[in-house]
Amino acid sequence: MTERTFSIIKPDATRRNLTGKINAVIEDAGLRIVAQRRVKLSEEQAKKFYAVHAERPFYGELVAQMTAEPVVVQVLEGDNAVARYREVMGATNPEQAAEGTIRKSFALSIGENSVHGSDSLENAKIEIEQFFTDDQIVG
Ligand code: TYD
Repeated sequence: MTERTFSIIKPDATRRNLTGKINAVIEDAGLRIVAQRRVKLSEEQAKKFYAVHAERPFYGELVAQMTAEPVVVQVLEGDNAVARYREVMGATNPEQAAEGTIRKSFALSIGENSVHGSDSLENAKIEIEQFFTDDQIVG
């Protein structure tokens, strides 16, 4: 089934000029980048985006990291895009990520792990709507 998922290329990756390399992995995996924008997240945006982690010990650092430098927000489209992108990203902790995944190739640590991808179709819709209007997504 054709789906859309939401992706963020995180500050640790934009800082190291890895946007193009990460996009190449995404496209080689059969996903299409149907919307993309570079943006500096406000503290409010980052806190809202990661609200589900508000009680976790890493939340403060996560919000600080996500707002420190620009990110690239994206909508990816393709067959089973949500699960496919999670596969392409690799495990949250890069030490556990499989060979060839974005996190294995580029992530610095569990906190600076280069990319975000929605974990369900329902969350993908919510996350996409936080950053893109329908007319900004061109499939
Ligand atoms: P999570 O939703 O568990 O992982 P994923 O990004 O793979 O969906 O966590 C969200 C982000 O929070 C994760 O990408 C990096 C950060 N994080 C930490 O800094 N330390 C941790 O122990 C965990 C679990 C997450």
